Amino acid sequence: MKVLVVGSGGREHAIVWKLSQSRLVDKIYCTPGNAGISGMAECIDVDSADFSALVDFVRYEWVDLTIVGPEDPLSRGIVDAFEKEGRRILGPSKAAAQLESSKVFSKEFMKRHRIPTAEYKVFSSYIHAEDHVRMKGAPIVIKADGLAAGKGVIVASTVDEAIDALRLIMKDKAFGDAGSRAIVEECLKGEEASFMVFTDGKTIVPMVSSQDHKRVFDEDKGPNTGGMGAYSPAPVITRELESVVMETIMRPTIDGLKSEGIKYKGILYAGLMIDNGKPSVLEFNCRLGDPETQPILARLDTDLMDISMAIADEKLSDIEIQWKKDASVCVVLASGGYPGKYEKGKIISGLDNAGKMDDVVVFHAGTAFNNNEIVTNGGRVLGVTALGGDIKAAKEKAYEAINKIHFDGMHYRKDIADRALNRK
Ligand code: AMP
Ligand code: GLY
Repeated sequence: MKVLVVGSGGREHAIVWKLSQSRLVDKIYCTPGNAGISGMAECIDVDSADFSALVDFVRYEWVDLTIVGPEDPLSRGIVDAFEKEGRRILGPSKAAAQLESSKVFSKEFMKRHRIPTAEYKVFSSYIHAEDHVRMKGAPIVIKADGLAAGKGVIVASTVDEAIDALRLIMKDKAFGDAGSRAIVEECLKGEEASFMVFTDGKTIVPMVSSQDHKRVFDEDKGPNTGGMGAYSPAPVITRELESVVMETIMRPTIDGLKSEGIKYKGILYAGLMIDNGKPSVLEFNCRLGDPETQPILARLDTDLMDISMAIADEKLSDIEIQWKKDASVCVVLASGGYPGKYEKGKIISGLDNAGKMDDVVVFHAGTAFNNNEIVTNGGRVLGVTALGGDIKAAKEKAYEAINKIHFDGMHYRKDIADRALNRK
């Protein structure tokens, strides 16, 4: 079978890597891909925003299935465009993807279906939002309604900070139309975890749990990033808690959408806050997380193409999904300056030496070729991922591999997975 993967990050490299092990797949295309992906797939130059060009490509090349990595094409209706032309694609429709693309939709949906989430109010007038913030006090959370590349959420520890955030979103329109409406939300406390499921709209199968590290520096200091590392499993998600999340969040979400005439197919990701064993939803994403996908797919023992086809054909109940007992840790190596300004084009050395290690995979994110050399081409550059008998062993292996890799300005967190290791 032939498969097309849409995207260019570490998540997409992990998807392509897993598909390359499939007994069903004999050809993988990726658009636009990156240097690492190009070793396993044919990277093609079709604009992923041009859905009719993509449909033409899959029709012409007889591609059996398209898998979409990032939220942007999903929120703009890539799945609807493919399905209208009778093409098999993995991901939710534009209507279903609103769970991620509109935080107002998502919060109102959760309220209607009594899915646990923080108290909130929606504002389209700046002045009313400011009054509300002054009345509530800090800490408080401000969110732009629409997609803002992960920058539209500000957890404010003072009223001034919250008002600055409102001004940035609603007055300065820093995120354009995404800021026409803003949410002012209660600040939850607890421990965060990422919980993802495969679903065909009927059957829902949880993946193994994981935990992301959003802040750029050790001990969760510094600004938020796309994610500096992740590990799996996350001990905060116990077996009991997994059942609670399935029963109080995942099942009511898929069924609630269905009751509103929206079928959800693909991957559903809930960012959770867990306080005293009680989960609340911080956000929904309509796709795999990045970097959580890297350690999670490293643990997947079932053929990803089998799973993907079963979801697309709505036969997920027919297959059983198996995971390795091993733990896994992914550490992101970032460009100097990230998540602020950074330079590109730095030569990366040591990739072969690190990649040769047993149970280590170096997933590429922002990388490109320059005269046969692999160079940096983005903020998050690599996701060094290792498996081990437990989290401690996986962590040690990941950092051992990192010691072999170098590029100018490279920085990374030294404490990925410590939260799991330091648990009492
Ligand atoms: P989101 O994009 O909604 O997941 O928000 C990004 C990050 O902001 C989350 O991973 C949390 O760390 C934080 N956050 C979002 N909402 C809340 C909340 N209600 N209380 C505390 N932290 C939050
Ligand atoms: N790692 C968080 C996300 O993918 O949104």
